[in-house]
Amino acid sequence: MEKRIKLNSGNTIPVIGFGTWPITEESAPDLVYNALKAGYRLIDSAEYYDNEKGIARGIHKWLEEDKIYHKRSDVFFTTKIDDKDHGYLKSKAVIKKSLRNVECIGYIDLILIHSPQSDYKRRHGTWIALQEAVEEGSVKSIGVSNYGIDHLKELLSYPDLRIIPSVNQLEIHPWLTRKELVQFCRKFNLTVEAYSPLTQGNKLNDVNLKLLAKKYHKCTAQILLRWSLEQGFIPIPKTTHVSRMRLNYDVFDFSLTQKELVSMDHGEENICFCWDPTIYPIDNKISN
Ligand SMILES: NC(=O)c1ccc[n+]([C@@H]2O[C@H](COP(=O)([O-])OP(=O)(O)OC[C@H]3O[C@@H](n4cnc5c(N)ncnc54)[C@H](OP(=O)(O)O)[C@@H]3O)[C@@H](O)[C@H]2O)c1
Repeated sequence: MEKRIKLNSGNTIPVIGFGTWPITEESAPDLVYNALKAGYRLIDSAEYYDNEKGIARGIHKWLEEDKIYHKRSDVFFTTKIDDKDHGYLKSKAVIKKSLRNVECIGYIDLILIHSPQSDYKRRHGTWIALQEAVEEGSVKSIGVSNYGIDHLKELLSYPDLRIIPSVNQLEIHPWLTRKELVQFCRKFNLTVEAYSPLTQGNKLNDVNLKLLAKKYHKCTAQILLRWSLEQGFIPIPKTTHVSRMRLNYDVFDFSLTQKELVSMDHGEENICFCWDPTIYPIDNKISN
């Protein structure tokens, strides 16, 4: 399995990432530095997590450690614009603020709209601000998170759309497979990132997962992450334990059979362990 794939923006993204919610600004530098040492190259943050500066410090420490083999272009830093900052002017300001927070790593690889929870005008303004950030060169790719099909259709219908989203980051695991939404994303070549890929720990004792873990000499978390990779999602597991960081990255030396993947699918249960803005009601301005 390749360790990076190409986004529709032309940039590449690692196939697994390190989640950083709710990691504090104070603990972020060490945890991120350790995550990079464990092999992760994608670090997922957000304005809302309030840890961008700490993450950038952790990445910077790793880059400084080996100026020949540790390259900025190998690391992929993601952040997100919070709902309260939707709208053109607020988003312009907050993108600038995030760029200042991560000044020591130079640029941002991906900025997502954290969720669609505002209204047409504000979502649209935010997207225009993001497009401008890409055109200015300070941000490499842009995308969305927690967007349902209607939110995506709205975005794709903006009259001044110049860049389509590269990513939709969604809660996805075997108990919440979002098949229709995933199919829609793929139709437009949007890469799907899977957050809460470990079900926030809730299903790690599932009997079938335990059987598969025993068969492959892995733990149930690794089985869930392998499931995600084999669906073509980019999982972004979070942990504050260095030993678990290593385990969660150690998922490239086995693969699940088609039958096993099917046996893990509980999509009909539709269990959301986090929040679900994909169902946030869209206003009726699409057709105006
Ligand atoms: N876009 C969005 O709206 C959104 C929403 C939620 C999350 N996210 C992103 O996705 C990332 C991951 O999602 P998440 O934090 O909700 O859930 P998750 O990664 O599914 O689960 C994290 C939980 O699993 C535990 N854990 C991790 N590895 C383990 C292992 N090997 N064995 C046993 N337990 C393990 C962690 O505990 P310890 O820390 O104690 O190890 C933590 O309690 C977040 O950090 C964030 O970056 C995005």
